[in-house]
Amino acid sequence: MVQLEAKVADITTLRVDAIVNAANKSLLGGGGVDGAIHRKAGKGLLRECETLGGCETGDAKITGGHDLPAKHVIHAVGPRWSGGGKKESALFASCYRRSLELAEEAGCKSIAFPAISCGIYRFPPEQAVNIAVRTVIETLPSTPTAKHVIFACFQDDMLALYQAELDAAQAPPSKPA
Ligand code: AR6
Repeated sequence: MVQLEAKVADITTLRVDAIVNAANKSLLGGGGVDGAIHRKAGKGLLRECETLGGCETGDAKITGGHDLPAKHVIHAVGPRWSGGGKKESALFASCYRRSLELAEEAGCKSIAFPAISCGIYRFPPEQAVNIAVRTVIETLPSTPTAKHVIFACFQDDMLALYQAELDAAQAPPSKPA
């Protein structure tokens, strides 16, 4: 049974097998959670990222955790929201799928996700949380090593959205009348 959990946390403090970064295509750092991860991981992370040749939107690449408590960082590039007509939802779902696939290849049991694209990239949070939870639940059967998935929220309102989505997704089916 996989434990799915949402909690308020600074993702850079989590001692898990992998944390996911909300990166940009350069993979060379930026603001938001990306900046926080690079600051805490140290220069070694930037040096490793420089060897990766960037990453397409909707895809992800994995590195070591360097000075972070996490063993690995999975750098996922979420879409920038521009109204919904540019395949944002499909690209967003793909970030979660690809991150879990890379975590599986690296033998990760515990993985923490931030709310990819929900900050600087302005993806609508309700839609993001719905797609994130649904995609993780759909992908987990093909990534059997994963035993604990954490949705790390920076704000209480984000936590409430994840909690509601997880409760709805995990509720037992209602009995026929
Ligand atoms: N721990 C957990 N969540 C965090 C943390 C943290 N330490 N810091 C911020 N968040 P954002 P994006 C939340 O903007 O929208 C960068 O410049 C934040 O409150 O970090 O995918 C990249 O280089 C929000 O809910 O990522 C890209 O250029 C969520 O993490 C661009 O921003 C994501 O916000 C990516 O933008």
